Amino acid sequence: MRCAAGVVGVLWVVRLAAACPIGYLNMRICSGHGHCATNVTTIGLDESCVCDDGFSGPDCSQRICPSGRAWVDFATANDTAHADYVECSNMGYCDRVTGECICREGLSGSACQRLLCPTVVDELGRVRECRGAGKCLSMREAATQLDLDSVSWSTNYDEWDADAIYGCACDEGFTGFDCSERECPRGDDPLTPGVDEVQLIDCRCTGDASWCNGTIALHFRGQRTDPIPYDATPELVEYYLEALSTITDVDLRFHTGGRDAVFCDGQLGTTVVVTFLAERGDVPSLNVSIDSSSHIAATVFADGASSALRPGISSVTGTKEWVECSNHGTCDRATGMCGCYTGWTTSDGRGNEGPVGDCGALASNYSDYQRVFFYNAANSTESPCPIAKPRWAISTLTARAVCSGVGVCLPDRTCNCSIGYGGHACEFRICPTGHAWWDTAAMNGGSIDAHRSGAVCSNRGTCDLTSGTCNCETSGYKLFDGEACELMACPDDGDNECGKHGRCATMAEFAKNGLVLSASGAKLIVRYSEPWDAYKVRGCLCDASEGVWDYNTSSTSYRGPFAYAYTDWTGYTCEQAFCPTGDNPFTWGVNEVQAINCTARGGSFNVTFRGAHESVLVPWWAEAAKLELELEKVATIRDVTVSYTSNNASSNKTICGDGQFVTVEFESERGDLPLLVVDDSQLDGAINVTEIIRGTKEDVECSAAGICNRDNGQCTCLDGFYSGRDVVPFRYYGAAGQRGDCSFRHSSTKGSKWWNALYEYSYSFVLLRGEAVTELTIFDLLNV
Ligand SMILES: *[C@@H]1O[C@H](CO)[C@@H](O)[C@H](O)[C@H]1NC(C)=O
Ligand SMILES: *[C@@H]1O[C@H](CO)[C@@H](O)[C@H](O)[C@H]1NC(C)=O
Ligand SMILES: *[C@@H]1O[C@H](CO)[C@@H](O)[C@H](O)[C@H]1NC(C)=O
Ligand SMILES: *[C@@H]1O[C@H](CO)[C@@H](O)[C@H](O)[C@H]1NC(C)=O
Ligand SMILES: *[C@@H]1O[C@H](CO)[C@@H](O)[C@H](O)[C@H]1NC(C)=O
Ligand SMILES: *[C@@H]1O[C@H](CO)[C@@H](O)[C@H](O)[C@H]1NC(C)=O
Ligand SMILES: *[C@@H]1O[C@H](CO)[C@@H](O)[C@H](O)[C@H]1NC(C)=O
Ligand SMILES: *[C@@H]1O[C@H](CO)[C@@H](O)[C@H](O)[C@H]1NC(C)=O
Ligand SMILES: *[C@@H]1O[C@H](CO)[C@@H](O)[C@H](O)[C@H]1NC(C)=O
Ligand SMILES: *[C@@H]1O[C@H](CO)[C@@H](O)[C@H](O)[C@H]1NC(C)=O
Ligand SMILES: *[C@@H]1O[C@H](CO)[C@@H](O)[C@H](O)[C@H]1NC(C)=O
Ligand SMILES: *[C@@H]1O[C@H](CO)[C@@H](O)[C@H](O)[C@H]1NC(C)=O
Repeated sequence: MRCAAGVVGVLWVVRLAAACPIGYLNMRICSGHGHCATNVTTIGLDESCVCDDGFSGPDCSQRICPSGRAWVDFATANDTAHADYVECSNMGYCDRVTGECICREGLSGSACQRLLCPTVVDELGRVRECRGAGKCLSMREAATQLDLDSVSWSTNYDEWDADAIYGCACDEGFTGFDCSERECPRGDDPLTPGVDEVQLIDCRCTGDASWCNGTIALHFRGQRTDPIPYDATPELVEYYLEALSTITDVDLRFHTGGRDAVFCDGQLGTTVVVTFLAERGDVPSLNVSIDSSSHIAATVFADGASSALRPGISSVTGTKEWVECSNHGTCDRATGMCGCYTGWTTSDGRGNEGPVGDCGALASNYSDYQRVFFYNAANSTESPCPIAKPRWAISTLTARAVCSGVGVCLPDRTCNCSIGYGGHACEFRICPTGHAWWDTAAMNGGSIDAHRSGAVCSNRGTCDLTSGTCNCETSGYKLFDGEACELMACPDDGDNECGKHGRCATMAEFAKNGLVLSASGAKLIVRYSEPWDAYKVRGCLCDASEGVWDYNTSSTSYRGPFAYAYTDWTGYTCEQAFCPTGDNPFTWGVNEVQAINCTARGGSFNVTFRGAHESVLVPWWAEAAKLELELEKVATIRDVTVSYTSNNASSNKTICGDGQFVTVEFESERGDLPLLVVDDSQLDGAINVTEIIRGTKEDVECSAAGICNRDNGQCTCLDGFYSGRDVVPFRYYGAAGQRGDCSFRHSSTKGSKWWNALYEYSYSFVLLRGEAVTELTIFDLLNV
């Protein structure tokens, strides 16, 4: 040991200052955005740059862009995809000079992580999300903030799209996925039975029951009244409640046991009966809040519960409809006005003619409605079904007809429309539905319910009621596609989707084409089929060479400007190329060597590697040369050397058999490789593959000594570096060749420091292999 150290001292000069790559753009060390690695134990690494935050590349010349959750990617486990920390979220390209993502149209955010809300450009040229008639909210925001039915807000939605998919929460009076449509007046259908909602409030004094003080506030649908004095009259409480914009008309009665009617009676308590005259259906419960210094207690009873103070009084669940155009008209979404069916007109909200505009009243000039106008088109008996002028009729001459002439009138006065027609009078055509791209997530029996099915045009398009077709959002770019706007559209270059180097695929197809290996190197079957987006979110599946089997074409394809470098394409439009990978020439490493121990004396085995689609068949009696030939037929293996471990001439030269043991050295595939995968089901005996030397050569783009040109997949090597040789035997540290990977370092750049480092490496390698340390063994290594 001491002696060897002496040899090092004598032969090799003292280490010089580190020579790190010079930036190819500005000729500064590490481009001025990094420094030479210090305190590294791997020999040679001290000649490489450690880049400042936000920079990358061997010379730190490349800016890193912001990252987000991938919109589209390969599943890594069953139903697990949309990885986090993906540059530009796979929906844009990184500008390496500015470090900014250039996003696909329709996406925004620094990492293209956010879908824009439906957008219009108004007359003044301003871009307005949701047409200025609604709020643009993420799925997460919608889940916590929006709840139109009750005051119990805040469902926690935390799926991959929680902060990615945005949609419009329209202001009151507006509707549609982009808030471009108008809501129509709502009302009760007077032809169906229904009762008003009744809720009770028991109010009494606390402490000394004979007297109260303080105030009480009532809450309804997220709004709160001003504090109401404990001794308010019914008229005053009604005034406070109707001052809320969520309450139109209530009727109040106080039951106090015959005394003067005040809100909270001192001795017997008050039971307040609140009847909702305009709010329809099952109305959410009122809620109370009382200042802690007040001497009042109050309880609300709803949904059939009886008063605690006066059990004879019960609440009632409202069953009146609260529907647009009272089920007796068609809403014109452009104007927000109801077009009433024959015989119906606007009501007063209580079934009589009035100003509401809801088709909730029988027209007085149609008082003979029940007898005359309606009959069963099928059998000509009288039956009052709605009559309307069909929206889908092209001719203005088309007459009004029972069930618009395309439905059968049922005994319960409803139309059974032919398939494809909708509306209570079958007056319009139905548009296709899909899972909503955006909606309000809600808890449903312990699990989150979001992206619900049955959304017209998937809530990302407008339904044309005259034709029953969806007009998917188009704002100059196409992000949604399909009959029901249910698919994410793939980017196209004007002619075809995904350009020349890819095809449009769903997340489910991506998973099928991905490559996931088990720890032992076997290819795992990974599917992505359960999540809501499996067949909806689509992206460009780029052409690839090795390892990725294309189920459509049943083949793998090989391309590339260099003899052995296959250009795989990448990027959200598949316009960016991967560059050849290779061994970092600043460091030294060895090839992977695996051993095959096969004791079989009959049969054959199949072997494959790194998920290559087809395996090769090897008979037990094969010799090393045949195994080598077969292995090199595997699509993911370029060059291996198979050797017997013993050169004993008398040993049987089959690879299998008692005591037989061969090694496979990978000469083209760099790095720590997965094991060869053998299928021994046809083998008469056992076979084992083990790693005997872990590959330590790097396998990185442009060998960490060049910059990848993503337009053509070619490396621009830093000064002094050239394409390396493809087949590099175990002890080699590199040679010029056709690999295109910048892994060869020209001797002109190799200073004494480089030779020093190589010497140290060779020395440690000799120790590693247990050989005697002599100048000869070290020179033997250096001279190969
Ligand atoms: C070098 O690394 C060692 C071990 O990781 C550490 O203790 C030491 O502080 C480092 N020195 C410098 C200068 O970073
Ligand atoms: C009600 O009376 C109590 C005791 O007399 C007093 O402490 C409290 O401040 C009063 N509350 C209000 C709201 O007046
Ligand atoms: C009233 O609100 C409180 C707190 O916000 C809640 O715990 C309670 O369930 C609500 N009561 C009703 C009847 O909604
Ligand atoms: C009933 O009155 C409405 C307008 O008030 C009118 O449009 C309709 O034609 C009338 N119908 C009959 C049968 O007179
Ligand atoms: C005609 O319709 C009436 C009421 O809808 C029904 O009771 C009757 O059975 C129908 N007659 C035929 C022949 O279908
Ligand atoms: C409606 O019509 C379809 C056929 O058009 C029929 O299968 C269905 O049973 C009808 N529904 C009712 C409630 O009569
Ligand atoms: C995924 O699920 C399929 C069955 O649906 C199973 O065959 C496969 O092994 C699973 N893959 C992984 C990686 O668990
Ligand atoms: C790939 O296969 C799918 C069905 O599995 C088909 O819809 C699609 O058109 C095919 N694409 C190409 C490029 O052949
Ligand atoms: C090969 O496998 C056999 C049987 O398991 C074992 O006895 C033998 O030691 C193995 N040989 C080597 C070199 O690992
Ligand atoms: C083994 O390899 C042969 C030849 O490539 C192939 O025909 C056969 O299907 C393979 N068998 C298995 C089990 O993979
Ligand atoms: C050598 O291989 C042959 C088959 O080629 C076999 O018959 C023979 O038994 C083997 N000899 C030994 C010592 O394994
Ligand atoms: C292969 O490995 C397994 C477990 O590591 C061992 O049980 C078996 O004996 C080995 N067989 C051979 C032929 O080496």
